[in-house]
Amino acid sequence: MECASLYTFEVMASNSLGNIFKLSTFGESHGEAIGAVLDGCPAGLVVDMQRIQDELDRRKPGQSHISTQRKESDQIQILSGLFEGKTTGSPIAFLIQNVDQRSKDYRHIKDTFRPSHADFTFQEKYGIRDYRGGGRSSARVTAPIVAAGALAAQFLENQGVYISTWVSRVHDLSLDKKGHWSRDQIESNILRCPDSQMAEQMIKRIEEIKKAGDTVGGAISCSIIGTPIGWGEPVFEKLNANLAKAMMGINAVKAIEIGSGLQGTFRKGSEENDLLESKEGEIHTKTNNSGGIQGGISNGEEIFFKVAFKPVATIMQDQGSVDKDGNAVTVQGKGRHDPCVVPRAVPIVEALAALVLADFSLMARSSRC
Ligand SMILES: Cc1cc2nc3c(=O)[nH]c(=O)nc-3n(C[C@H](O)[C@H](O)[C@H](O)COP(=O)(O)O)c2cc1C
Repeated sequence: MECASLYTFEVMASNSLGNIFKLSTFGESHGEAIGAVLDGCPAGLVVDMQRIQDELDRRKPGQSHISTQRKESDQIQILSGLFEGKTTGSPIAFLIQNVDQRSKDYRHIKDTFRPSHADFTFQEKYGIRDYRGGGRSSARVTAPIVAAGALAAQFLENQGVYISTWVSRVHDLSLDKKGHWSRDQIESNILRCPDSQMAEQMIKRIEEIKKAGDTVGGAISCSIIGTPIGWGEPVFEKLNANLAKAMMGINAVKAIEIGSGLQGTFRKGSEENDLLESKEGEIHTKTNNSGGIQGGISNGEEIFFKVAFKPVATIMQDQGSVDKDGNAVTVQGKGRHDPCVVPRAVPIVEALAALVLADFSLMARSSRC
């Protein structure tokens, strides 16, 4: 065998998320298809297939002039695990064909490394790299995650748990209003920012940046209501830890802030603490700087967090880099790319939040006799 030693044999491990409600994904940007298998979804869930397709349409490329112009229909096929519109308890397989690949757009990076991409690390780690569209490192692999997340959201809604996710920042333009926005408010503009005036400014900023051949980052906020007390496990499976792990797994994510986040760490305990009070027989916190999670466990308040994305690495400008032999080269900005990923990343954040919570809803069922 060529790679006999454990130390020279590199596998691309860790393509799965979750303990009981467990998702494993496969596929590359310019391969035949991408997909996922969801194991552990309880039987008897009535699945709204149109909702799964709608979520994919919110993520798909080519949906507006401020996203990449790659055209993918992202038609979902469910190959197993459903019968007469309901889950059967067996693994649910999702498949999406790749249709609009233009691999020639990527030939120029076959032997060179694009700045701030995964080209260098993949090449060094595996010794082989599917350079077409970034291969496995492409955000294209998030499509089946969105499909599975749309199913998880339906599982959660049956338990009274609702997720709202929106764009709260583009570059330095920030919407600081808190809220649990409706889907109609979020979808009222192509940016997915529930404040139409701010959305206009943000769209204008992306248009200007795109015209200059450059890119910008931003942030997505997420609010979850209806989570019962007790979801999350102490130490290594904390609710905040698993949300952070899932969010940091999204391409281009650089930070997550839970509750008051970094801001809270600048305050005194007397300013930051969430005091408890009893109201009509129920115990609540007067404030919610903890973002609905204490000791890694949901406390019944609104869960809220913010996810920050870096500017898209591919800019339509020449950049200096090196080839795989270390020679200095110029990398040209080519291909079809997003000038800012946050509008398309909204359903991805939402899907991963749903998958993490669905997993904890099942784990929580084993906490007490
Ligand atoms: C929805 C979405 C779309 C993206 N589109 C692009 C793109 O068009 N061009 C690009 O260079 N990066 C894009 N990215 C980011 C890259 O996939 C990512 O930066 C790259 O794989 C390196 O990984 P890292 O930034 O997490 O380190 C996108 C990310 C997301 C979430």
